[in-house]
Amino acid sequence: MFAAISAVSMNILAAQDKPNAEEGKKLYEANNCGSCHALDKKVIGPALRGVSDRRSEEWLKQWIKNNKKFRESGDADANALFKEYGGAAMNIFENLSDAQIVNILEYIKTAPKPAAVAPKVEGAAATPQAGGNANMYVMLSLVGVFLVVLLILSKVKSTLRRLAAEQAPLDYPLDSSNKPWISKWLPRAMQNMNPVVMSLLITTIVAVFALGYLYKFGITEVGVQKGYAPAQPIKYSHKLHAGDLKIDCKYCHSTAEYSKQASIPALNTCMNCHKGVQKASTATTDEISAEIKKIYAALDYDPEKIGAEAFGNNPRPVKWIRIHNLPDHAYFNHSQHVKVGKLQCQTCHGPIEKMEVVQQWSTLQMGWCIACHRNTGVDVENNNYYKALHEKATADIKANKNKSKYFSADGKVRVTPALNGGLECSKCHY
Ligand code: HEC
Ligand code: HEC
Ligand code: HEC
Ligand code: HEC
Ligand code: HEC
Ligand code: HEC
Repeated sequence: MFAAISAVSMNILAAQDKPNAEEGKKLYEANNCGSCHALDKKVIGPALRGVSDRRSEEWLKQWIKNNKKFRESGDADANALFKEYGGAAMNIFENLSDAQIVNILEYIKTAPKPAAVAPKVEGAAATPQAGGNANMYVMLSLVGVFLVVLLILSKVKSTLRRLAAEQAPLDYPLDSSNKPWISKWLPRAMQNMNPVVMSLLITTIVAVFALGYLYKFGITEVGVQKGYAPAQPIKYSHKLHAGDLKIDCKYCHSTAEYSKQASIPALNTCMNCHKGVQKASTATTDEISAEIKKIYAALDYDPEKIGAEAFGNNPRPVKWIRIHNLPDHAYFNHSQHVKVGKLQCQTCHGPIEKMEVVQQWSTLQMGWCIACHRNTGVDVENNNYYKALHEKATADIKANKNKSKYFSADGKVRVTPALNGGLECSKCHY
């Protein structure tokens, strides 16, 4: 009897504690385990499938919670693992409870094995959209030029014919066939038009096309390189690193938060991973990838050697080709937009995490800056930078009600960069 009851209560207890793979999956994703781990391949850390067969649950709990403390406690396996991965450190996850870790392990245990890997479909390289239109303008202009040449030639011919007719009227009678043959194609009203007027007319039409072309693709697009996507010296892919591996933009472009520039990372940043990752997971040979060899060559790094000895004395920096470039007279500051304005990189740079090759997404023209400054609201309420402005705006709304320039129907204070001086020439021009 008692045995039966306790068996039932044991079952209830067990049911409550039953590991939940679905919860585990959420936790695995929320904690970004996938940025360093995959289930079936070594990424930055080991492949995790089967880890519960390799390690005890107790060991895994300690490791995942705080691998540093665990290693320092002298656990031999933990230290061996750390050494095996060349000292690449896993984050500390002290916020995870034991039960949550059990859920994560359950997810790793039960996650379905992937089917045979389909070959990766490369994103089609984006082409500048202007191409098609530009070609049409070139074609039309050429047709125009061709017509003018024809007209001049036929004019020359008819003049010669007239001269000949004056000399020998019998051989060359002056009849209607004496007209430039091209004018026979023209509507009747134009047939008797003075050839000079006609030439002027056609020249004007050609000029309009030529100027239209220059205006559209020359003047307004001087220095504009929307769609510019040069091939870089190393085939580095944002789609792979920022997209698939989910590495944070600021891991590499760390200065975007606090400085004007969003610098290109030093190759040492790449080496945090590429000391270990020497080839693509899809590689069929054991050879180091040719692209990753370029990183090693640039740093004069010898992957056969260990420690400081591996780095030689002849580094040759990689010359990345600069894509975005404002003219010298314009001033742009990343931290102002990323930190103060709280804008996402993608607002201006487009879906970089989907680009195999980076391309310039926006025009970077003055009109582009201004349009956003007019239309984008800034969250002034929860931003210390705007404390004074927020107070001023609230007072203004109190005094002027819905006539205040800061008034917004949703009851919030409306502030755009424009209302904060973001249209003043001197803010953007030296
Ligand atoms: C920044 C990269 C990184 C992140 C994020 C990360 N790990 Fe790790 N993990 C590693 C590395 C690297 C190792 C190998 C040991 C070492 O070098 O510290 C490792 C080792 C492990 C091991 C031991 C594997 C074995 O074969 O014994 C487990 C389990 C593990 N990680 C689970 C997790 C879980 C769960 C998460 C998310 C909560 C996570 N890791 C997040 C980098 C990471
Ligand atoms: C692992 C490092 C790394 C990560 C992560 C990364 N980038 Fe980059 N980024 C680079 C390197 C290297 C270049 C220079 C080569 C190139 O243009 O592809 C670059 C170039 C760029 C450029 C073009 C710079 C120019 O020349 O004008 C932009 C814009 C950019 N990254 C934005 C981003 C954004 C947005 C993210 C996040 C979604 C991101 N990057 C994540 C390394 C990284
Ligand atoms: C956080 C880790 C990490 C960082 C930082 C990192 N990479 Fe990678 N990179 C990887 C991984 C993992 C792969 C292999 C992915 C795969 O094939 O599944 C890879 C693949 C590559 C490849 C493709 C190799 C091939 O043969 O297909 C190149 C090229 C590359 N990385 C260049 C760079 C450069 C340049 C930097 C620095 C700007 C960099 N990586 C920074 C993790 C990283
Ligand atoms: C408000 C629009 C905007 C936002 C938001 C923005 N950028 Fe930029 N970015 C630009 C402009 C404009 C340039 C060209 C700057 C120049 O030539 O001086 C640029 C240039 C760059 C460059 C080339 C190097 C440089 O600093 O000139 C990189 C790399 C870059 N951005 C990365 C990022 C990353 C990463 C983020 C997010 C953390 C980001 N950007 C957010 C507009 C933006
Ligand atoms: C996607 C929207 C967006 C784009 C595009 C944009 N900005 Fe801004 N800009 C902002 C926001 C939001 C702020 C923050 C408001 C502030 O500082 O008062 C800001 C602030 C500024 C400021 C500081 C203004 C002040 O009053 O202190 C300058 C300067 C500036 N931007 C220049 C530029 C330039 C130059 C460009 C074009 C190359 C540009 N911005 C493109 C949204 C944008
Ligand atoms: C929000 C930033 C911003 C403000 C405010 C601004 N400009 Fe500009 N301006 C730019 C940028 C960026 C360029 C470069 C555009 C390019 O390369 O196409 C530019 C270009 C120019 C040019 C060169 C011609 C051209 O189109 O390339 C002139 C002239 C100019 N600005 C005058 C002014 C004057 C006058 C004011 C004040 C009424 C002003 N700008 C306000 C950002 C700004």
